[in-house]
Amino acid sequence: MRSKIVAGNWKMNKTLKETEALLAELSAKRPDTEAEIIVAPTFVNLATAVSNLASSVIQVAAQNMHFAENGAFTGEIAADMLLDIGIDTVILGHSERRSLFGETDDFLAKKVDTAMAKNMRIIFCFGEELQERQAGRHFAVVEGQLKNALFHLDANAWQKIVLAYEPVWAIGTGETATPEQAQEMHAFIRKTIDEKYGASVAQNVTVLYGGSVKPSNAEEIFSKPDVDGGLIGGASLKADDFIEIIKAI
Ligand code: 13P
Repeated sequence: MRSKIVAGNWKMNKTLKETEALLAELSAKRPDTEAEIIVAPTFVNLATAVSNLASSVIQVAAQNMHFAENGAFTGEIAADMLLDIGIDTVILGHSERRSLFGETDDFLAKKVDTAMAKNMRIIFCFGEELQERQAGRHFAVVEGQLKNALFHLDANAWQKIVLAYEPVWAIGTGETATPEQAQEMHAFIRKTIDEKYGASVAQNVTVLYGGSVKPSNAEEIFSKPDVDGGLIGGASLKADDFIEIIKAI
């Protein structure tokens, strides 16, 4: 089901105390909205976040997970570990995982399969780098990322997928895609899905934009018809900014 979502990817930020303080502030200031609100703290603070938000509508997601059931994968986290503490949404394919930790489309496809097998919801990130856009290859890159990691799924599986288009050049740079650029790419993403799966899947998938979303630009970006919300990095670390962004939807 297509829905409005504002999600905060906290990345490698916030200690336990800081996590608890930010969650308390978000819970206290959260505006009434039909949009889903999701936060993704770091692994060590996930269980605390789930417990502190037990009576809140704010949901908790993980920033990553491994594809294996369990085993000799030092430093990794398995799906069952997340499910066991009450987390059934996971961000996969973030550009930092791709560029800094070498995660490829094929590797991500395995994680996607595991998440599906475990009936988890995926927030799947993808997007082109600056040189790719400058070379006019951004549509081809995005199409390739979608096809390689997700197009082996059957149509039914798409109920569990949220897409997050995050142009790499806009992540943490302060430079945002213009609302027109975001809309253009989101429409292209829907068209690509439509060609493979048909209009119903394409129209029902939630497509978020990520990359330097701030209180000052959120409303304009979210006003575009194919933009269903945002995946927010830096601005999700300050309660007041994140709350303003939620209000913008
Ligand atoms: P910024 O909002 O800090 O640009 O980060 C976006 C992002 O990577 C969210 O996953």
